This record gives sequence, C-alpha cells and structure tokens, in this order.
Amino acid sequence: MIEVRHLSKNFGSTVAVKDVSFDVSRGEVLGFLGPNGAGKSTTMRILTGYIPPTEGTARVAGHDILEDSLSVRRRIGYLPEWAPLYGDMEVIDFLRFIADIRDIPPGETRERIARMVKVCGLEKVVGRVIHHLSRGYRQRVGLAQAMIHDPDILILDEPTSGLDPNQIIEIRELIKEIGRDKTVILSTHILPEVSQTCGRVLIINEGSLIASGAPEELARRFEGRGIVQIAVRGAPRETIETKLAAAPFVDAVRSLHSTGDGLHHFTIQGTETGGLGEKLFRLAVESSWTLAELHVEAATLEDVFRRLTRGENA
Ligand SMILES: Nc1ncnc2c1ncn2[C@@H]1O[C@H](COP(=O)(O)OP(=O)(O)OP(=O)(O)O)[C@@H](O)[C@H]1O
Ligand SMILES: [Mg+2]
Repeated sequence: MIEVRHLSKNFGSTVAVKDVSFDVSRGEVLGFLGPNGAGKSTTMRILTGYIPPTEGTARVAGHDILEDSLSVRRRIGYLPEWAPLYGDMEVIDFLRFIADIRDIPPGETRERIARMVKVCGLEKVVGRVIHHLSRGYRQRVGLAQAMIHDPDILILDEPTSGLDPNQIIEIRELIKEIGRDKTVILSTHILPEVSQTCGRVLIINEGSLIASGAPEELARRFEGRGIVQIAVRGAPRETIETKLAAAPFVDAVRSLHSTGDGLHHFTIQGTETGGLGEKLFRLAVESSWTLAELHVEAATLEDVFRRLTRGENA
C-alpha cells in the first residue's frame, strides 16, 4: 500500500531524514517510534505530499507522491502534529467545510458527519467554537477531519497526545478498529501504545531507521543481553560473587540476599552476547554449585528503545 525508497530530507544543513526505506501493507498498523527530532513528523509530511523529499521516492496506493500528489492526498487522511483547525468555526461548520473540500457528495455529507461525531465522541461539542475546546477535544476534531472522506490510509502524527487516560484508551481502540480494514501509520513516544496498537514498529533515530519488527519480536531480540536473577548454593557468598564478576560474559553482579539454607541470590547483567542464562548454568556446573533458581527478565520494548537510541545495534 505504501512503498518508501531511500527517502532523505534536509532542511539547510539539518538532516531530518536519512535514507529511509520501508513498506506498509494494506490493513497494517505501523508505529513510528523515536525521540524528539528523530524525523517522524518529517517522514509523515513527505508521505502526505506536504513537503517534497530531498532525495528518494515513495508511492502511496500506486501513486507517486511527487508526480501524483493530488491522488495521494485523496487516498490519505492526515492528522498533523499541529492540527490546522479553523479556530473561530463551530465544530459542525468546520466538519461541513472539510466534507466540502474533500469532495464528499452533498447528499452524503450529513451522514458522514454524523458518523464522525459518533466515532470521535464529539456529540457534546458540535455547536462549540473550536477555539473554546480543550486540547483533547481539538485532537478528536482533528481525527474526525482526517477520517471524514473514509480514506484507505490514515497517517496520524501523535494521535493520543494531549488526551486524558480515558480518551487515550478510546482513541487506541478506535485506531485498532480502523486498522482492521485500513492502513495506518502513527507516531508516538508512548511505548505501551506501540505494543497495544501496532502490528509493526519502526524505530527512528536521528533521521535513520535503526530497527523494525513486531513489538514482541524486537523485545525478543534483546533477551539474553538483559538481566538474569539466580539463586545459588554450594560456596560462600563472597566466593560466588567474585567468580561471577570475573566471568567474561558478566557485566555486573549485584548480591541481593542470602537465606538460612545457604542460598545466595544475585542479579546479573550480561555483556553484549546472548545466552546469559545458559552460560551461568554452565559456570555453576563447573564450579560444583547448585543453581536453584534462574529467572531471565524479558526485555521490554522500552529496553530496546533506550538501548537503540543510545547507539547500540539490534
Ligand atoms: N521546517 C523545518 N525547517 C527546519 N528544520 C526542520 C523543519 N522541520 C523539521 N526540522 C528539523 O528536522 C528534524 C526532525 O524533525 P521532526 O519534526 O521530523 O522530528 P519528530 O521525530 O517528529 O520529533 P517530535 O517527536 O519532537 O515530534 C529536527 O531536527 C527538526 O528541528
Ligand atoms: Mg513530530
């Protein structure tokens, strides 16, 4: 549905997007994850035809974003980072206005607006002036304008920013629902949001794509580098601790507590190589200790994000 090839965007000497390529299939909900200034919004603005890339190409539903930007815009619903709402219009008039510029046939306008009001929970504010709305309601109006022409593709730049926790859940549910038969790209800083709504995530840092995959797949790639908790008996605590700390695959050892039955608990941070649990098991056997417990703490998407955006590779 979306094909992005070697996109780059420079603003003067600032490299906002650097050689980014990816594909999105129909019905996929793809998340852009990255720290501030990573290039998420810039990539979205290129895909929606608002700014041209410096280099590279992209096709949306078969249309080239540069050669056929009008067709691209027709197929896309876009919620920009700063929704350009007409502040002095009432919500209902604004939606009528958008329906008109989106070429919705007059006979269908009323029904489409009613549907958006319902889907986005705007019943209470249809008669209010947009200026007077809270941030969360303005965001809902932004979503309504993005979806009013029933586009195949939705590009949502931080759709849940500024919403309260209840609204966040509602909007996430809504996006999941929409994602069943539409293609969605959304950006966010909120990690649980990605796991909950997106089938696949692209991690972007300093303009480059540094990892991609299903949220759980990315987390899995990091297991074994993470942290293992063990309980060992068979030698004094200090002896075990010294030997663990000296092992080449161990980065740090923290002694937790010892119990009356001679069981010593430790938390161990591995070095970069995988299979920490297995190596600890072998070390225990070689040292004639009893490894009574071993618990590998699964890496979370948050660990993955923090490590990657600090310069480690997956
Ligand atoms: N119109 C512009 N002119 C100059 N520089 C820009 C412009 N738009 C974006 N940039 C720069 O490009 C880089 C990427 O910005 P972008 O807005 O795409 O980041 P982002 O990932 O959306 O960040 P955030 O999470 O803060 O929204 C930043 O360094 C930003 O300052
Ligand atoms: Mg942004």
